[in-house]
Amino acid sequence: MPIKYIPYTPNTVEGQAILDNLTRTRRVLRYRDNDKVYDRIKRGLPMYEVETIEVVNFASSRLSGEENLNRKDAETQRNLLIRGECLSACAYLKDKNIKVDLVYIDPPFASGADYAKKVYIRRNPKLAEKIAKAEEELDIEELRSFEEKMYGDIWNKEDYLNWMYENLFAIKSVMSDNASIYVHLDWHVGHYVKILMDEVFGEDNFRNEIVWAYNGPSVVKNAFPRKHDTIYFYTKNDESIFNGDYVPHKSGLHNTGQVFGDMENEDIERVKELMERGKMVQDWWDDLYPVDRVRSQILDYSTQKPEALLERIIKASSNEGMVVADFFGGSGVTAKVANDLGRNFIHVDVGINSIQTTRDSLLQSFQNRKDAKTQSKDEILASSRLCGDNFEILDVKDGVSLFRNPVQTMDKLKSLIIGLRNEDQLDKFWEGAINDSKLGLIPVYIPNLLDHSTKVLDIPLMNRIINEAVPDLPDDIKQVIVYYIDIDNEPELKKFIKNNDNTLVKIELRDLKQILDEVVINDIVNYECLMINDKWEIEIKSFISDRLIQKINEYNQKQASKNFAPLRLSDEEENEEEIINRKDAKTQRIEISEIGLELIELVSIDCTTTAYSWTSDCEIKIDKSGFVIDNGKKTKDFWNGKIICTKKPLRMKIRNIAGDETMVNFK
Ligand SMILES: C[S@@+](CC[C@H](N)C(=O)[O-])C[C@H]1O[C@@H](n2cnc3c(N)ncnc32)[C@H](O)[C@@H]1O
Repeated sequence: MPIKYIPYTPNTVEGQAILDNLTRTRRVLRYRDNDKVYDRIKRGLPMYEVETIEVVNFASSRLSGEENLNRKDAETQRNLLIRGECLSACAYLKDKNIKVDLVYIDPPFASGADYAKKVYIRRNPKLAEKIAKAEEELDIEELRSFEEKMYGDIWNKEDYLNWMYENLFAIKSVMSDNASIYVHLDWHVGHYVKILMDEVFGEDNFRNEIVWAYNGPSVVKNAFPRKHDTIYFYTKNDESIFNGDYVPHKSGLHNTGQVFGDMENEDIERVKELMERGKMVQDWWDDLYPVDRVRSQILDYSTQKPEALLERIIKASSNEGMVVADFFGGSGVTAKVANDLGRNFIHVDVGINSIQTTRDSLLQSFQNRKDAKTQSKDEILASSRLCGDNFEILDVKDGVSLFRNPVQTMDKLKSLIIGLRNEDQLDKFWEGAINDSKLGLIPVYIPNLLDHSTKVLDIPLMNRIINEAVPDLPDDIKQVIVYYIDIDNEPELKKFIKNNDNTLVKIELRDLKQILDEVVINDIVNYECLMINDKWEIEIKSFISDRLIQKINEYNQKQASKNFAPLRLSDEEENEEEIINRKDAKTQRIEISEIGLELIELVSIDCTTTAYSWTSDCEIKIDKSGFVIDNGKKTKDFWNGKIICTKKPLRMKIRNIAGDETMVNFK
């Protein structure tokens, strides 16, 4: 996995207020006295190998080959879903000379929370009808589910701001000259980030601090409930697009009689015209509901923002045909709304779940658009040119893709290093230590996948290890293990250790990717493929996912411990709530059938190629209630374990309910 760096010259704007000006002695890129950031920015954007994993071309299935070719020629911009970090995605865009005209980002807020995704067990096709009936009778509202970690948002403020600073510079480097950027934050760090934005984009390019206010329950007891987010809007220069928006006046034209009183006719006409146009949207928005109040939009992605919010931003700061990018895309709302409004989109996110949610939601949106109007071929061509009902999914090969997202990969890694356990006596730089019978305690360093900068073992990091981390260790430590994902110029690094390491502690370097490579256990699928009446029918006979079974067992054990923890008799009355919880826990134990089909979320068949990126010629998705979504079209059918294609199937991809994908080639 070679890594190269794409040079870029991020210029801070002269004369800006900056955080801690006093330590900023060089008039170059330096935030506080932090050399780490300075060195990294100087080195460039980290560029990894990028693989196209799927091409979705929705219109093509309804157009002839020639029409598709013409259509391709007409395209000037690709719609992209990129799995990778913001910085590496920017490196890719910069390398390909792709510019964006509008950026909306809703990055982690440093909220101190860990975000989780609910994973829903689907229905066993053999019992689907029976289960549905039983559920109706028993009135079970809660579907069977457990939680999986998605991403962590626990940061120390200093690290967060350094990270944000780099991201803002990287994003600026791919913005077109007239582009705008909206950064969505809240009270946790918004005020600090505004100062960074002044520095990166310039105070003169500040446009608005938008307050998005909403109602909802609050846990805050000693202050006013915190019920607004803040969105900072900057542009790259004065020339940027701005289309002001109008909303209807709350009191309409009906009571005009009283309003106009004895006004002149001319004035009345002017007031009427203004009232008809509505009220100009100001920088405080209280008319947009959070997504949990717009049920039809919910994609089960925590932190999902409502479409109306993106619609307002995209309409205000871009025109049709322009490129809208979201580098922390989450559920893909920005991409979807951009596409609906005839803009091109670039969606970036580090989590596989975000890419899958966005992919599926776009596909469904294309299908809805197709259903909404019975289009002629000309109309299809026109609308696909405008809305581009196609996109590519790219995967940045940065070594973190194994377990769905960086948080889960971190957890997995810790469990894979045999004997590794927490050691309170060590500084938090070390992940823990291994106890060796001969060498005693061996501290272990693992790069933090949530902070990309630590993925590369380079001289600044090694400098920190030999001059700060190792000297601080207890005296009896003889050896440490340093894991890395990428190593920057190994011979030079070894020379650096030789010349600079004055400690007696041996530093052993180990490649983390080797541990990761050893544990890719695919799910196992048994199927039968038959040709029936000119069609191909694939029946999934059984599906075994060790990864999920392990998770479910852990979940059941937790439920069981809640259930059976002894209660002292005298406590029973006071602990009524606990008893109820325990009863719930008992009913929520998850059992998986022998055929295991309830662990499948999506089956996709590629009838086009086995050599290149994936083409989904037909697919079914099973939604969380067990209903089939057939090629993006919602149905009220339960899945029967089968999928039918009109062309000869070449390979099949199965996505389990936690997002792991397994591929099989047909013989
Ligand atoms: C607050 S959520 C975005 C929600 C989104 N606006 C929506 O409406 O669904 C933040 C997202 O940033 C992603 N993320 C975290 N660190 C990232 C990084 N360095 N690069 C790209 N994405 C990242 C997380 O996986 C998460 O999906």
